[in-house]
Amino acid sequence: MEKSREEVQQKPVRVIAAVCRNMGIGKDGKLPWHLPSEFQYFLNNVTKVSTPGKMNMLIWGKLCWYSHPQTIFPLPNVLHVVLSTTLTTVPDHAHFLCQDFESAVQLAAGPPLSGMIETIWSVGGTQVYKDALNHPWCDLVYLTDIMADFDCNVFFPDFDRTVFKEQENVPGVPKEIQEENGIKYKFQVFKKMGGAV
Ligand SMILES: NC(=O)c1ccc[n+]([C@@H]2O[C@H](COP(=O)([O-])OP(=O)(O)OC[C@H]3O[C@@H](n4cnc5c(N)ncnc54)[C@H](OP(=O)(O)O)[C@@H]3O)[C@@H](O)[C@H]2O)c1
Repeated sequence: MEKSREEVQQKPVRVIAAVCRNMGIGKDGKLPWHLPSEFQYFLNNVTKVSTPGKMNMLIWGKLCWYSHPQTIFPLPNVLHVVLSTTLTTVPDHAHFLCQDFESAVQLAAGPPLSGMIETIWSVGGTQVYKDALNHPWCDLVYLTDIMADFDCNVFFPDFDRTVFKEQENVPGVPKEIQEENGIKYKFQVFKKMGGAV
């Protein structure tokens, strides 16, 4: 049975990615770089909730899920959804398996989870980012600009920088250029103009 409008609570859909100058995000199922502080920035953002007791939903593509060291799980304040059309059981440490992005969003927006979920984070890969960027509830894109070229075979999707505008002075987001292992990078936040949230 279809959920009534009243039962659906709109949630902000957000994207978080680290992207190098040639728009790469991955190489052979792994990250192309080793930047532990940048990874910590990712973890801090996706686990942050404004109200104690609330949780965020992280939506993962299957390869991205399995590429992460299992030692990072469990993450506090997070429910994990893995997207796959072929898996039949929920992977270890994950909470839900969905066949497409919208099913995961609707899971967060409807009972029984809607009262608990604060933010839906799209954490990659490419198709999961595409679906989030095109979603009407998408309001913010957190991109780390890795200021170098890397050999990559997985890429961040094109997005319209007239629709998503870079924001200055976002609380909690350092403005200064960072450097780790000789690689410079900077944190950026893009906001969707005229967005739904
Ligand atoms: N730099 C970054 O910030 C960042 C972030 C995330 C990932 N990465 C890198 O990106 C790479 C992985 O990304 P990827 O794009 O190759 O793979 P992926 O999206 O993690 O996984 C692809 C698989 O996930 C399932 N899937 C993905 N989107 C789906 C959707 N919308 N609906 C249903 N199923 C969906 C499909 O599984 P089935 O075939 O089972 O249907 C698909 O074959 C790795 O190298 C990782 O390190 C980098």
